[in-house]
This record gives sequence, C-alpha cells and structure tokens, in this order.
Amino acid sequence: MRLSVEWSWFVALSCLLCMGGEVQCACSDEDIKREGVEYTLTRQLEKGSMLVYNCPEGFYPFPALTRMCQANGSWRPAPRRFSPQKCKPVECPDPTVLENGNVSPPQEKYFVGNETMYECYSGYTMRGSNQRVCLKNGKWSGSTPVCSRDSENACPDPGIPAGASRTGNIFGIDDKVKYTCNGNLFLVGSSERVCKEGGQWTGQEPACYYRHTYDTIQEVSESFGSAIRNSLTTLESTDDIQGEKRIRLSKNGTLNIYIAVDVSESIEAIYFLDAKKAVIALIEKISSFSVTPNYHIVFFSSEIFPVVDILDMLDGKVQLSSVKKELKDFKISDQITAGTDLNLIFSNFLERMAIIEQQVGKEAFKEHRHALIIFTDGAYNMGGSPAPTVAQIKNKVYMNYTGETSTREDYLDIYIFGIGAEVFDDDLQPLTTTKANEKHYFRMKGLDRLQDTFDEMIDEDAVKGLCGLHKDYDRVIDKDDIERKKKMYPWLAFIYIEGGRKCLGSLVNSKMILTAAHCFRFGDKPDDVKVEIDDRMDRKVKKVKTFILHPNYNIKGKVDEGVDEFYDYDVALIQLEKDVKISISVRPICIPCTQETSEALQMVGKSTCKAQEQLLLKTQLEELNFMTRTDKWAAEKNVRAKLGDNRGDCIRHALEAKGIKTKNPEVAVTDNFLCTGGLTPQRDHIACTGDSGGAVFKHHHQRTVQIGVVSWGTKNKCEGGGVVESDDASRDFHINLFRVVPFLKQYLGNDTQNDFEPLQFVD
Ligand SMILES: *[C@@H]1O[C@H](CO)[C@@H](O)[C@H](O)[C@H]1NC(C)=O
Ligand SMILES: *[C@@H]1O[C@H](CO)[C@@H](O)[C@H](O)[C@H]1NC(C)=O
Ligand SMILES: *[C@@H]1O[C@H](CO)[C@@H](O)[C@H](O)[C@H]1NC(C)=O
Ligand SMILES: *[C@@H]1O[C@H](CO)[C@@H](O)[C@H](O)[C@H]1NC(C)=O
Ligand SMILES: *[C@@H]1O[C@H](CO)[C@@H](O)[C@H](O)[C@H]1NC(C)=O
Repeated sequence: MRLSVEWSWFVALSCLLCMGGEVQCACSDEDIKREGVEYTLTRQLEKGSMLVYNCPEGFYPFPALTRMCQANGSWRPAPRRFSPQKCKPVECPDPTVLENGNVSPPQEKYFVGNETMYECYSGYTMRGSNQRVCLKNGKWSGSTPVCSRDSENACPDPGIPAGASRTGNIFGIDDKVKYTCNGNLFLVGSSERVCKEGGQWTGQEPACYYRHTYDTIQEVSESFGSAIRNSLTTLESTDDIQGEKRIRLSKNGTLNIYIAVDVSESIEAIYFLDAKKAVIALIEKISSFSVTPNYHIVFFSSEIFPVVDILDMLDGKVQLSSVKKELKDFKISDQITAGTDLNLIFSNFLERMAIIEQQVGKEAFKEHRHALIIFTDGAYNMGGSPAPTVAQIKNKVYMNYTGETSTREDYLDIYIFGIGAEVFDDDLQPLTTTKANEKHYFRMKGLDRLQDTFDEMIDEDAVKGLCGLHKDYDRVIDKDDIERKKKMYPWLAFIYIEGGRKCLGSLVNSKMILTAAHCFRFGDKPDDVKVEIDDRMDRKVKKVKTFILHPNYNIKGKVDEGVDEFYDYDVALIQLEKDVKISISVRPICIPCTQETSEALQMVGKSTCKAQEQLLLKTQLEELNFMTRTDKWAAEKNVRAKLGDNRGDCIRHALEAKGIKTKNPEVAVTDNFLCTGGLTPQRDHIACTGDSGGAVFKHHHQRTVQIGVVSWGTKNKCEGGGVVESDDASRDFHINLFRVVPFLKQYLGNDTQNDFEPLQFVD
C-alpha cells in the first residue's frame, strides 16, 4: 500500500487515540517514508508491529525485508542512513556448480529472465534440464542438471543444486552426501542423503533459497498435494485379486488431521478471513477422498483459539459436515495478542494424542495416523523451542522406536508452511518430518494465496463430471487476476477464424464448443478455425476437427420479408480434434434439458426440460450474464432478459436496426430469441462485436447454466469489446437454448459415437 498523505494523517490520528488507550504508538515512520519504498504495517506504529517492504515482482527489498517496532520506539533493524532501502532485482543461485559439464553463458550473476544452457563433457550423460530460465521468485525453471557416467554405482549421481556445495562423491549403498548452500543462501530440503538398497536416496533434493525466495502456488499445490495424497490414500480401500475373485480390502485405521494457524502476525480482519478460507479450502479438498479424517483445528498467537476439537469428533459430537460451518462462524472475540507460542500448539496436539490413546486403548491407537499442518512465520517469542515437544510427538507415534523409523514413519506427517515476509526457517524446518521425495516444508509470502493453492491441489477426478462448477470469490477480485477469473468462467473459449474474425464460445463437453452460426462464412474450413482454451497442455490454441451449423440457420432466409440478415437458429457446434484437459480452470458449462443440469440445479425426482426452464427463466425480468473480451482476458456483463409482458416493448427496437424494413418485429425476432438491453429497470450492458457466440448464462450457487448464445444487436456501440453500457434504444438478441434442444441433443446426446461421453437429455 502506498501511504498517501491522508493515510499518514490517519496513522497519526490513530496514534493519538491509542496513546490514550491501552496500546502505545512506539515508533515513528518519518525516516522510513523518506526512503520511498512501499511498505505495509501489521499493527500500525504500535510496539510489535512489523513493517513489511513491498517490491514489484522480480525485485526484493534490500537491505531489510522487514523492520520490527520495538518497545523503546526504535526499529529493528534500524534504517541506515548510508545504505538506504531499495528494491533490487532478484537473482538466481549460481548454476555453475555443475560438475563434468559446461554452463553457458558464464556470468558472475544471473538475473530474472536470464537463460542458461548445460552441456556434459564427452563420456558423460545428462539428466535434468539442459536449459533453464531464472524465474521471478529466484529459482531456476526445470530440474537440476546432472552430468554422470554410467557406472556401477548403486545410486544415481544426486547432482548439485544451484548455489550449493556437496561433499561425498561415492554413491554406493550406505554412502552419504552432504550439502551446504553458499553465500547468503540457506538450504531447504535434506542437507544429508543416504544411498539405500534399490538405488534410492533418502530424503528430498535440497534447494538453496534466498531469504526472499518463496514457493509459487503451483509448486506448493503440486508437492503438498502429492505428499498429502499419500497420507490420504494409504487408508483408502483397494481392490485385490485373490485367486479368481476381486475383493475390496478396507484398511483398518483412522486419520487424524491437526491444523494450526498462527494469527499473531496481523490484527487485520482480512488476514483472519484468509486463514479461515484457506483451511476451508483444504478441508473441501480432503473431503473429495473416500477417507473421513477427524479434525482438530486451532488458531493461535500466545494463546489458543480452538475451533474444532478432535475429541468432539471422535465422540461424534461434531460431524464433518459441521466443521466447515464451525470455521465460517468462528470469531476471535478479544484482540489478538502480539506474542507467538509455537510450543503451545505442539503441546496441545500431543495432549490430544495422549487422550485419544487413553480412550481407544494402546492397540487401537497403533492404527491411528496423524497429519499435523501448521501455518506460521515461526517467530515464536514465548513458550520456548517446540523441538522437545515435537520429539515427544514422534516418540508417541513411532512407539519409542529410536532406530530407523521406516516401520512407523507412515503414521506421522508434520507439514509446516512458513508464511510471511520474514520466516524463521532454521527454527521451523527441523520440526517437519522427512520422507523420501516428499516435501513437508513450504514457504509463502502471504496466507491470501493459500486458498488458491488448496483449490489447485489434489486430484480433480472426483468432480470431473460436474458441469458448470466454478469457484466464487466473495472478496472483490482484482480485475487482472486472470488465474482466478478462469476458475469463475472455466468454460469460456475464444474463437478465431481466418480473416480476423473473433467470437466467443462455451465448452459443453471435453471436445465440443457451442457458439453462434454467424461466426462462420460459406467456404470456411475446419483448418480456418482456431479455438483457444488454456488447459496447460502442449498448446492452448486447439485444432478443430469439424464444425456444425444449425440446419435451419439461413441468414438470407427473410430478405423477401424485409430482413436483410436473419439470425434465427444462430447456433453452431465446434468439435476439437483432441479432448481438452478438465481442471479447476477448464470445465464444461451446463446446458439446458440435460440430466447434468437437473443435478446442478438440485432438482429432485424426475425433472423435465420444462421444469428447468421454469426454474431458470421464472420472472419477467430475469438477470443473466454474458462475457466480453478485454485487453487482459474477459469480463462479465450483466443484463436482464425481458420476458412475458416486457418482451413486446423490448423487441420493438429491432425495427430501428440497419437492414430491417419490415414493420413487424416478430419477423426478425422470432420466439427463439431472448431480448436484453435498454435502461429500464436498470441500465443493461450491451454486447460488442467480438462477444458473439458467447454463453448467456446464469449462476446457480456454485454451478453455471447456459441459457442462450449471444447473436445480434440493434446498434454497434463497441467494435473493440469491453464492458459497455446500453443506451435507451439499443437491444441485443440471444438464441434461447431451450428452443434449439433437438439440435443440441442430436449431436451432444449422440450415443453411437466414441469421440466423447454423450450428455443425458431429459424429456
Ligand atoms: C531499544 O532496545 C533495543 C533492545 O530491546 C536496543 O538494542 C536498542 O539499542 C534500544 N534503542 C534505543 C534507542 O534505546
Ligand atoms: C540478464 O538479465 C539482466 C537483467 O534483466 C539483463 O540486463 C542482462 O542483459 C541479462 N543477460 C543476458 C545474458 O541475457
Ligand atoms: C482389521 O481389523 C480386523 C479386526 O479388528 C482384523 O481381523 C483384520 O485383520 C484387520 N485388517 C487389517 C488389514 O489390518
Ligand atoms: C515408551 O517409553 C515410555 C517411557 O520410557 C513408556 O512409558 C511407554 O510405555 C513406552 N511406549 C511404548 C509403546 O513402548
Ligand atoms: C452419431 O455418431 C455416429 C458416429 O460418429 C454418426 O454416424 C451418426 O450420424 C451420429 N448421429 C447423429 C444424429 O448425428
């Protein structure tokens, strides 16, 4: 946040206020403002407030990342006159540590965007990436290149990550390698690895981080996702073939998940809200697995704010279904104190484990698995080091087994998310558990990104079949946050046709896109058509196999009746050559008269097409939306369909359109169209040229149903797209999908083809 004059007044004022009350404004920000680097304060200028410098992406604050306001009114570290604060470009760790190969170009320093190539000396073969780019978070893209000789070694050469040094060059069974990070880098991952039978190294490849290196959402969701998936699937039932018979084996065991979120960092309500959202997102994800864990959820600072107690879940007093509600409703009544007691959390977890053990008995407790997930910056300032308590937890779960923990190590996972501008990694990392090729320690700058992280995480298979499912972000989202917007409109497709024509479309199954027929011209071939859907596969521009226009579409069909361009039945389907990959950001929309839509609308019993229409278009002014292209991506437009008694006045304006000479609006605007636009009862948005073919849709809770297709309008008010408002006379007409169901059913419901799973149409 840039501190404006008004803001500093506000801060000054709140200082006056807080001096009268119980809190004191200790520090002054005069010197800091002069530096000109943007910053935020976690508790204004009170004692214990953290000043966090904010630099643009690809830059980091130097020399300090943060400053802490101390009781005596000084900042720690103190601003230095002769080395003023600035934003420095991010560097990546030294890649020239490669052994037995060349790195080009050789540079003293490598900055964001710099590319490197790796080549092995003759006789050596390469594993890993032979080309890497320095990324904005100070990491190299791809994986560590390794040049090694085929040899008799039991384990493969484990390589040397950028910025690191390794000791140990023999890779036989039980041989060790040790790593350190050079300069001001610190090590994340295993600093020591041992070669095991089977050619596996223990632990996880280390990486060298700067203090300003954070993991990206993608990295965390991938590695935390795969690690927690391992915990979750160990308890899933499996099919086993015994003799001739396939039998379902259910595993004995219980999974207990303990979650703790440090809220001492900031008194801002938004932070607490983010914490709650993140935990809810995590629980939602976990609930897509067939295991039903017991949860223990707490927030903490110097004290504990319990949300859900695992003992209540074990007793059946709290059900999983109510955990989310408990979280949503949870409030912290008193002001959160600034202290942090990390040991308190582990003691709380340990105590719960002891009670569970007592309740279920020693034998049954052996079948309990425990996953501890903690979000903190690690800056504990009371309660002492949690390390002894963590040792006790390990001891309890590992059953006093002191040697190699391999027999019981599956029963305990401790994950820590280091969150904040200043994370105390050295204290936190040793508290996590280590497993071969699993990462249990993560580093993120803010809690706000966690919700996305968990959204992205874990298998989408469970919800793959759900049309129209989308993420809602109740917080105002940044207009340019495209990744989030894609999750709100995951079915949106951009269509480009030879000759510079642009349309929108909607994904209706993994291969088919619904759009307008008028996007195409006579003579267009599938090769002339490109569909852009970013499913993160090899290419986001998809090849088209074929396209099909509605057989009744005939633009010249009513020239004789005074309509130069007649748009009735303006719908078309595009079939792609390959399936798109369904994910949280790419997923079909629901279309009318399908069983899938009945389910999305939570209609009970046998539902009909008519019933769906009555539910979706029930008022005479029905709120609908459609999309428009913007220079960044796309934006939503809001309109009201004028139905019933409102329709006549709406379509009357069709007569004002160019090329219409008839006196009867019904000639041009048949019953197959929905009419929007105008100023009453509210100013609608109006469609632009490039919006054609896009879905006219309606959200129903977490699901989206397409009602129409954007077809034509009376005025061309916006050639270039964007969210443009209607005037008094401008009107848009959209094909009502309820009127073209036979066409949709013929193709999308075709069950004699093998290209895609047919949709189930209802009567
Ligand atoms: C404020 O207190 C810290 C230790 O708490 C001390 O290092 C520092 O010198 C003090 N500053 C002033 C101006 O007294
Ligand atoms: C490396 O990046 C820096 C900063 O962006 C740039 O000035 C420099 O030209 C780049 N060097 C190479 C070799 O691309
Ligand atoms: C599960 O528990 C039952 C009885 O408690 C036992 O008979 C069975 O062998 C156990 N199964 C496994 C896979 O441990
Ligand atoms: C572990 O050790 C403690 C103290 O030595 C003992 O009380 C406890 O019974 C032991 N637990 C197991 C499972 O052996
Ligand atoms: C359904 O698909 C099959 C196989 O592609 C095709 O032969 C048939 O004509 C299709 N049916 C309709 C109604 O299009």
